[in-house]
Amino acid sequence: MKVAVALLLCALCFVGLDAQCPEANALYDLEGTKLCARLYAQSNIYYDQSCQGDYLDIYPNDDVPTIAWRWNNRASALVVSRLCNLTVWSRIRKEGTKRKFSPGIQYRLKDVQKGLFGNWDNSISGYYCTC
Ligand SMILES: *[C@@H]1O[C@H](CO)[C@@H](O)[C@H](O)[C@H]1NC(C)=O
Repeated sequence: MKVAVALLLCALCFVGLDAQCPEANALYDLEGTKLCARLYAQSNIYYDQSCQGDYLDIYPNDDVPTIAWRWNNRASALVVSRLCNLTVWSRIRKEGTKRKFSPGIQYRLKDVQKGLFGNWDNSISGYYCTC
């Protein structure tokens, strides 16, 4: 029974009528400039409610070894534009664990493994984005 409910909820979470996360081919800033990636402060166990709250726009070729302090260890979801790659580090100055995100939506960085036991939720401290 519990499994059935979980499956139902999971099916609903992909319906996405109220989807918040933009698609990888539709990532623009408020002025309509194409982005390389965008970080979001909030994710949700229901994917259609991820990508809420504050966000940080990342432009093609942005190379930021030390993220703005208010964004340090704060990103919980992200989207990478089509034909771009976002490389992130878990510590400032490109130290710690490194990971490359290809184009697409990461609804919940908590679900993305970092090292043996960690995950990438609230863990990004630097980035480099190429298109
Ligand atoms: C992104 O990564 C893929 C896989 O490693 C690579 O083939 C591609 O050239 C990269 N694209 C850019 C723009 O860096």
